[in-house]
Amino acid sequence: MRRRSGNVSALSVIFLALLLALLLPSAPARLASGGAFSRPLSSASDEYAAAREEMVREQIEMRGVRDARVLAAMRKVPRHLFVPPAEQGEAYNDYALVIGHGQTISQPYIVGFMTEALELKPHDRVLEIGTGSGYQAAILAELVTEVYSIEIVEALAKEAEARLHRLGYAKVQVRAGDGYRGWPEAAPFDAIIVTAAPGHVPQPLIDQLREGGRMVLPLGTWEQDLVRLRRTREGIAREYLLPVRFVPMTGEAEKQPK
Ligand SMILES: C[S@@+](CC[C@H](N)C(=O)[O-])C[C@H]1O[C@@H](n2cnc3c(N)ncnc32)[C@H](O)[C@@H]1O
Repeated sequence: MRRRSGNVSALSVIFLALLLALLLPSAPARLASGGAFSRPLSSASDEYAAAREEMVREQIEMRGVRDARVLAAMRKVPRHLFVPPAEQGEAYNDYALVIGHGQTISQPYIVGFMTEALELKPHDRVLEIGTGSGYQAAILAELVTEVYSIEIVEALAKEAEARLHRLGYAKVQVRAGDGYRGWPEAAPFDAIIVTAAPGHVPQPLIDQLREGGRMVLPLGTWEQDLVRLRRTREGIAREYLLPVRFVPMTGEAEKQPK
């Protein structure tokens, strides 16, 4: 009799354990079901995540930018942290914004379009002329191993460098100076992006382009076109991509004949 009741209680314990296992979700299942622990910190702490997603989808992807790596970079970089606090609410809108010193951060679509046109590969070395806020440099840093950026307005260069470091883009090397002469010590480059418009293509930049390298720049004074140059074994090939409107390239570019 004692043995029998012992068997019964052992069976009840097993039954109870099985029942509990069925009714209670395991710990990992609970985490995956969407509580606060499963939410990535970045989206939890970034009130602009939805605006950034909409910007990429409606302003960039829908207008034809297809490079998945470029789109991912633009989904990731917090553009609102590259504009003055008073402009943050407009950071994801479809236009350029002022960043001080008479300069601008380019329209998101143009950033996406130019970045795609550079045809970047992960191990590329890239030179940017016109650091401005540092936003374009941060996008580049998401895509390639080495980024060099030159800004002629010293205060902007310093601010951008500090901002890039603060946001974890310390690999971007920023220099204050005239980008017309490029960065000869770091050349040759696989890609060069110019974000201020010269009236002619600066020869030093052409010289610093590796064979197979691409340069994307706005070209012209009042009427401007976005142009892609490609260094081939035979010489420099030129393509016209898009009519654009950029701030002028200052410094040496203004002194040289157009
Ligand atoms: C449209 S803004 C660039 C936006 C920037 N790429 C960004 O993501 O914020 C053009 C920048 O080019 C700079 N610039 C103009 N001429 C330059 C030159 N000769 N060398 C370097 N920077 C120049 C301007 O001061 C300005 O900050």
